[in-house]
Amino acid sequence: MSILITGGTGFIGSHTVVELIEAGETPIIVDNLSNSKEIVLDRIKTITGICPKFYKVDLCDMTALDAVFAENPEIESVIHFAGLKAVGESVSLPLQYYYNNIVSTLNLCECMKKYGVKNLVFSSSATVYGTPAEIPIKETTLLGQTTNPYGETKKMIERILTDVYKPNPDWSISLLRYFNPIGAHKSGLMGEDPCGIPNNLLPYVSKVAEGQLPILHVHGNDYPTPDGTGVRDYIHVVDLAQAHLKALTRARKVTGVEIYNIGTGRGYSVLEVVKAYESATGRKVKYEIGPRRPGDVAECYADATKAYEVLGWKAQYDIADMCRDADRWQRQNPRGYES
Ligand code: NAD
Ligand code: UFG
Repeated sequence: MSILITGGTGFIGSHTVVELIEAGETPIIVDNLSNSKEIVLDRIKTITGICPKFYKVDLCDMTALDAVFAENPEIESVIHFAGLKAVGESVSLPLQYYYNNIVSTLNLCECMKKYGVKNLVFSSSATVYGTPAEIPIKETTLLGQTTNPYGETKKMIERILTDVYKPNPDWSISLLRYFNPIGAHKSGLMGEDPCGIPNNLLPYVSKVAEGQLPILHVHGNDYPTPDGTGVRDYIHVVDLAQAHLKALTRARKVTGVEIYNIGTGRGYSVLEVVKAYESATGRKVKYEIGPRRPGDVAECYADATKAYEVLGWKAQYDIADMCRDADRWQRQNPRGYES
């Protein structure tokens, strides 16, 4: 039996592929390489000794996607990571974001239906909560207003998958709402490789520590948080990968649509992250306080009790592990996978 991993050469997908192989599963990757590189497959092989089957296919190309299912009738589950994910870019390229993220999911569901594949784990995001109505955020917390097309696609896809389940009650759909994935594989062979100047905090911090960027701009220190800077629930990407294995195990046993927050349950401010990075790595992170970034919320962290109680999943790594692993990846690969 195989598991189709869409977006499997991306940041979270590649780490999940490694964990799946190490658990004895057989992943098959589909990715159009729009935001990842084929060399990731070599890194997966170096870590696990196995090079997973790979198709360079765009999920929006129904014919090509159908052929992947037709060639691999042993596919029994899908983990759907593929999607465009840059919040700011989604504001300037809304049509591209809606088209790519929605059409790829519709095509995937069509193929799953045609080939009788009934287990799906989907990468959703804490962004669906918008400005959270309560903290910590529970799965039952009302969804808020999203401020960008990217977040809107996540909400729409959650809705689409919930509707797809209704006439297909033998399906099992897990909607995993990730908080802030960071860190890298402990080997230093896989990590986050953003194009150009990073938007997200940790890759930016790593590049400042490395001397590739001069200074971190802290986006605001006037939020109603203990030190005034934004608070987020950072989660190690390997912990996140493990959550997919747990969700898959459950999907094989039960039917339904289930939602899980995947976070540590602990929020860290920007300045706490800077301090944690400095003490975990012994490297200095120069910063200056700047204005707020439009669309940012003050605080966002999970109540991850449900994932623990139902899936038996709990984050194992702490912020020091996340910073150390991110730093190792940055040092070993100063120009990402091109290094
Ligand atoms: P990523 O960009 O590293 O990986 C996504 C992969 O999907 C890339 O390899 C890209 O080439 C591929 N892809 C995109 N569109 C495709 C298409 N039409 N057909 C085939 N492949 C396609 O991103 P990631 O950080 O690994 O995120 C994985 C998923 O998790 C995404 O859906 C993202 O929205 C979601 N998510 C990410 C975060 C985060 O902070 N990284 C937070 C919450 C949710
Ligand atoms: N920040 C800075 N300076 C930077 C970058 C970020 O101060 O250069 C701050 C932000 O203002 C925020 C915190 O660091 O307070 C985290 O910002 P990120 O950009 O790393 O992460 P976000 O919480 O804004 O968003 C991320 C993903 C989204 C996802 C969301 C919830 O980018 O796709 O987490 O999962 F939806």
